[in-house]
Amino acid sequence: MADPFQDVDAAGPEFIRVFSDSMEVRQADPVMEAVVAAYLDRLGPVPPGARIIEIGAGAGAVTRRIAARFPEAGITGFEPSEGFVAEARARAEGIGNLSFTAADGADLPLSAESVDIAVMHTVLTHVTAPEALLAEAFRVLRPGGWLVACDVDFSKAALASFANDPLDACARAFVAEFVTDPHVVGKLRGLMRDAGFALTHFGVDSRVVVTAQQMLPWVEQTARLMESRGQIGTTLADALIAEHDRRAEEGALYGYQAIGTAIARKP
Ligand SMILES: C[S@@+](CC[C@H](N)C(=O)[O-])C[C@H]1O[C@@H](n2cnc3c(N)ncnc32)[C@H](O)[C@@H]1O
Repeated sequence: MADPFQDVDAAGPEFIRVFSDSMEVRQADPVMEAVVAAYLDRLGPVPPGARIIEIGAGAGAVTRRIAARFPEAGITGFEPSEGFVAEARARAEGIGNLSFTAADGADLPLSAESVDIAVMHTVLTHVTAPEALLAEAFRVLRPGGWLVACDVDFSKAALASFANDPLDACARAFVAEFVTDPHVVGKLRGLMRDAGFALTHFGVDSRVVVTAQQMLPWVEQTARLMESRGQIGTTLADALIAEHDRRAEEGALYGYQAIGTAIARKP
């Protein structure tokens, strides 16, 4: 199966509902709040009226954080899925400096050199041609403009507490089924340089998941997928989900993700 994040509308309304909520839960994780706050802080003073875009905004969890952090700026979230755009608009009601437009990151409806800051948050790991999105960001950014690319390093993601932990099979299945390039974080610096950007920061944060909800969709989605394919029965699918919840309740859950952030400027 191709990564459904490549064409979210084709994945259907249930996928949009589940992952709109899931991305909200992920962004509310204190580690993710700190990651976003830290990269926004690295952008230096942002002048009033600055134009900031998020490319691949999903249901807007990060776009709303950007709008709150820079109330004097105008923020637009570009997102190819009409379903996510509708969710993003509903969730951002009443926020004056924020709007959402349906557009692919490789073809933005913006003139050249019209943007001060572009953010790609957990997007490049879901595209087949990251070079095209970076080239388009380079086109629309003003000289001196900032690009932030923050992504999960899915190659390091795990749900294992011991060797051959059956719950870890769900983490590996999630990466295989819901991610396009699990190694993109390691490639970010080269991709940015090749697109013409000058790198100013690269760092990786650990995100340790020990509570319910944060990685539950990884187990639910993959267990049900394996069940729908007839690979496992309903009893095992239910048991994997129950095991996730048991560990969370008993303080034994141990999920791991590495979150990479690369920041660069257009010379
Ligand atoms: C995991 S979601 C992240 C959404 C949001 N940035 C967040 O963190 O809440 C990945 C997003 O990338 C979007 N996406 C996939 N291909 C894209 C492309 N070619 N251009 C722009 N966005 C794309 C998907 O539609 C989806 O909304």
